Amino acid sequence: MSDAASRPIGVFDSGIGGLTVVAELMRQLPGEEIVYFGDTARLPYGPKSEDTVKQFAVQDTEFLLSHGVKIVVVACNTASSVAVDDLTRRYDLPVTGVIAPGALAAVSSTLIGKVGVIGTEGTIASHAYRREIGKLDRDIEILEMSCPLFVPLAEEGWTDREVTLVIAHEYLTPLRDAGIDVVVLGCTHYPILKGTIGKVFGPSVKLIDSAEETAREVAERLSSLGLARGPGAPPEHRFFVSDVPHRFREQAERFLGAPLPNVSLVTVDELATP
Ligand code: DGL
Repeated sequence: MSDAASRPIGVFDSGIGGLTVVAELMRQLPGEEIVYFGDTARLPYGPKSEDTVKQFAVQDTEFLLSHGVKIVVVACNTASSVAVDDLTRRYDLPVTGVIAPGALAAVSSTLIGKVGVIGTEGTIASHAYRREIGKLDRDIEILEMSCPLFVPLAEEGWTDREVTLVIAHEYLTPLRDAGIDVVVLGCTHYPILKGTIGKVFGPSVKLIDSAEETAREVAERLSSLGLARGPGAPPEHRFFVSDVPHRFREQAERFLGAPLPNVSLVTVDELATP
């Protein structure tokens, strides 16, 4: 195994939601080591301006680079929507966001050419999924809807409460009535609410989980670049957040499906601005 291949995968997100991507990376690439940074001091990224999110994304990436990562995975949909091209130009290592893999899965899944995309205000305003889907198939009709209340509901653990279903109906009924057959869960938190979202759409609408598709793309990129970690000692993952690590640890199990042993604090002041 080359030196480069033995280095960790870097993953960043605005906070806890990126753990849904980490869970998939651990499932699909169990031998890989992960360094995770969750910017809990500055979340949510969803309602923030493009410039602010781009600036945070650079600082988050610099932090991961300081841990010698071999690839950067932008787990946050909002940051992926506005910052991946920027990061790819700026850094001499592979950068993978969640938008292109999710778009590809949507295009290959729709049978009628009518796709829904749901996400934060930032993701929907950027039309990043619309652009990526359009590059693959210009004839697909795309309906977009921001669902900002889903993030706090998922963080609160209100995954199958009545109120969550009422809110989901409010946001999603226009998409359902428009007759889409695929919907992209374009936010780290939405896979947690899959059950409720599925109740609104019914079984004929396929839900695309960007996390699964992203982990698949990371696996392919690492292997095509000769960067896949070979057999060796079991991986030791490291988790960092910019505020209240104990809250992150408490919520982690819901997003990761397993408890986190330890989470370290790195304050925003310690993040480098290049
Ligand atoms: N991680 C964000 C995303 O996937 C959701 C939470 C936030 O707004 O920061 O868009």
